[in-house]
Parts: sequence; C-alpha cells; structure tokens
Amino acid sequence: MSETEFPASGARGLGAVDLRVRVRVPAKVNLALRVAARGDDGYHQLATVFQAVALFDELTAERRRDDAITVTTRGLHAHRVDDDPTNLAVRAAVALRHHFGTTDLGVHLSIDKSIPVAGGMAGGSADAAASLLACSVLWDLDTTPDDLVQLAADIGSDVPFELVGGTALGRGRGGDVMPALARGNYHWVLALSDRGLSTPSVYACFDEQVDAGKVVPLRPDDPDACTALLDALASGDAARVAPLLGNDLQEAACQLRPELREVLAAGTAAGALAGIVSGSGPTCAFLCASQPDAYLVQTVLRSLEQVDETLCVTSPAPGAQLVVS
Ligand code: C5P
Repeated sequence: MSETEFPASGARGLGAVDLRVRVRVPAKVNLALRVAARGDDGYHQLATVFQAVALFDELTAERRRDDAITVTTRGLHAHRVDDDPTNLAVRAAVALRHHFGTTDLGVHLSIDKSIPVAGGMAGGSADAAASLLACSVLWDLDTTPDDLVQLAADIGSDVPFELVGGTALGRGRGGDVMPALARGNYHWVLALSDRGLSTPSVYACFDEQVDAGKVVPLRPDDPDACTALLDALASGDAARVAPLLGNDLQEAACQLRPELREVLAAGTAAGALAGIVSGSGPTCAFLCASQPDAYLVQTVLRSLEQVDETLCVTSPAPGAQLVVS
C-alpha cells in the first residue's frame, strides 16, 4: 500500500495503515485519599476511593507500517503534553509490546485532550490506560484483563483505576483496585488551574508535614480507612457522602499553592456540599446537591481570579472503553 492510498487519518504521512481503534477514557476524583508515611520503596501506601467523572480524553491508535510508536495531541490542554517517548501513552504502548516479546509493531497515537494536565485528575494515567486497551485491540494481542491491570500498575499508580472506572477502592500504591458500589449520580464543579502541580513535590511536602507532626499518616494496614465513605456511597445520598470526602494531600497542595484555600472556601460558601483538592491538585472538586446548585457554584467560581477554568461534570463514569463508530 502506498502512502497516498491511506484513508483520511491523523497519522497520514506517518506510515500508518488503515486500521484504527478509538478509546474514550475518563478523569478521576479521589473522594477519599488517605496516605501513609513514605515507605522504603519511596512510595506511600494508600487507601483511596476513586470515582471516574464524565470528562473524557479520546485516544485513537492507528497501525503504522514501521515499528515506530509516535504520538500527537490536540484539544484544550494539548499544549501542556509532551509528544515524545516520556508521554505515558507511548510508554504504555512500549510496555505492552515488550510484554509480548515483540518490537516490530508500530502505532501512531492521537490524543484529543480534555482532562487537565498535572491537575490531580489522572490525565496522563487516563491516556496510558487508553493506549493499553487500544493497542492490545489494534495489534490483536491475546491480552487478559489481568495482563492489562498488571502492566497498568507498572506504568503509574492511577492507571489500573482508569481501566476499571466507576467507583473503586484503591490500596497499595493506589494500583490494587477493587470496584465498589455507588448508587445514584453525583454533581461536581471542577475549578481548574493553568499551572499544574507536580505529584512528587506534593508527596515531598506531605512527608515534611508528617515529619513535623502536622499531619497524622494513615496506618498502612488500617482496614477501615474508607469504610464510612463506601457505606455512604452505597446509600446514594450526596449529603451523606459530602462530610466524608477528604484528602491527606490537601494540606500539602495548599501549602504549595495557598490560593487553593480561597478557592475551596469560595465554593463551599457558594453552596457546594463540600470541596476538596483532587488527588495531588491543583484542581478543586466541589460536590453539589443538584445540577442547578452546581451551576450556581460554577458561576461564583468562574469569577475568581485564582480559577482559570470551571466545568460541571457528573459521576460515576465508565473506565476506558472502545468507541465504535
Ligand atoms: O505512580 P506514579 O508514577 O503516578 O507516581 C508519581 C509520583 O507520586 C511518584 O514518583 C511518587 O513520588 C509519588 N507517589 C507516592 N506514593 C504513591 C503514588 C505516587 O509517593 N502511592
């Protein structure tokens, strides 16, 4: 097949052939994030309740005739993503190929990016999960769900949840994921910042707070760390869920970005049931009783100079899914 015979595609001219797979993948919020002291491996044991929210990246994987793995990104947050081998989506494709003992499969990945970058919403992890799923279908690999989750955990702590979606309890580094029951739908306002926060820096700040006795870390073997929240989620009552939202990294994120305290205060004063920093931040997520309430809270947050963008989203949302067009 010559280059000119390719179908219209984002990879035209890059060596792609006419096979493509599209995957949609959600952002996440940590409804609870309990963090233990740093372990000998440099990581922190976690007890976290993830919930996927209806804000999606879309990744298209197209066969290349050569063995290169390439990526391009477009969309609102594309300018802050590296189109190079450090891109988590590329790393995921390389890891998948390596797992199957081959190096001769090529792919071009195009990512339509709506999830904020370095925003505490698993934007990079989402793309890694999408890449694992898309490439395993595109390359027709004999992948089991367990293979994918194991590979995902090696790429990053949030990647396994991005495959699972919905609501889930995460333990270990966050990658030991168990689906959890959540009834109903939840309404959120997200307050985004153009300036991301580095996850390692936030964890390092958390370590300093633990050393200074300002924060009590999770006991790693605590079996009940998130039980009350999981019970509330099973009831489907947002008013019961709201007071149980919590994030042990919030103080660290606020220490690094003090304006987040003002954003959190403004959102709750505007009528949100509760507001938390999402993951390692700087995105702040506000749980609201209803969609009209969420629109009111959004109006207030949108006017703050500390906030660059606001979104109303619902949860839970499904994990990485093939899109059939
Ligand atoms: O696993 P991931 O690559 O997403 O983690 C990014 C960084 O966040 C790690 O390098 C580490 O500094 C920190 N981290 C941690 N404990 C975890 C998860 C992440 O210390 N459980």
